[in-house]
Amino acid sequence: MKQSIVWHEAAVTRGERRRKNGHGSAVLWFTGLSGSGKSTLANAVDRYLSRLGVNSYVLDGDNIRHGLNRDLGFAEADRKENIRRIGEVAKLFVDSGQFALTASISPYRKDRESVRRMLGEGEFLEIYVKCSLDECQRRDPKGLYQKAVRGEIPQFTGISAPYEEPVSPELVLDTERWSVDASVDRMVGLLKERNLIPRGG
Ligand code: ADX
Repeated sequence: MKQSIVWHEAAVTRGERRRKNGHGSAVLWFTGLSGSGKSTLANAVDRYLSRLGVNSYVLDGDNIRHGLNRDLGFAEADRKENIRRIGEVAKLFVDSGQFALTASISPYRKDRESVRRMLGEGEFLEIYVKCSLDECQRRDPKGLYQKAVRGEIPQFTGISAPYEEPVSPELVLDTERWSVDASVDRMVGLLKERNLIPRGG
């Protein structure tokens, strides 16, 4: 089966799409514990980019598990497949000249590194949304930590399943110390530094 499928080159290149849009394209991969602030920050950055006229889209882990990944659970192999699929979708966004902002726990280093390898140089920015487990448990926005501690949710990240911190992420956003606006500023600063979005504005 696989051998009889041939790659079809696109008529419009990624470079043409980027020129037309007036900005670059990349994956902003937000990783961190549940409740660390990934979705909040990805959406805040998305809102900011939208105001600048930059094309971006948030691929939110929880939302994707309602559709594309509804067949997957939280065992290590399922999380790996979850991340692989999100990586493939994000790659399509990059190819289309846009920014994909992903917000998934993505607890395994090797799974995040496989996504990095799917993409070209400078197209994958790992953003570590840093927040201590204590603080995530205090926030517990969905009441899941409480349930996990009671043993009602098996394999819960941080409680009964691992979270592997990034070793050399492109950016660390410390949500215990910085406001949402301060983190958005840092993210936007990095995109400008790398010439992914225009420096003015
Ligand atoms: S990932 O590990 O595969 O990247 P993902 O980000 O898609 O996880 O989903 C995490 C969300 O699913 C959490 O924010 C939480 O709402 C919910 N969830 C349900 N069960 C678990 C679990 N066992 N571990 C972590 N999150 C869980």
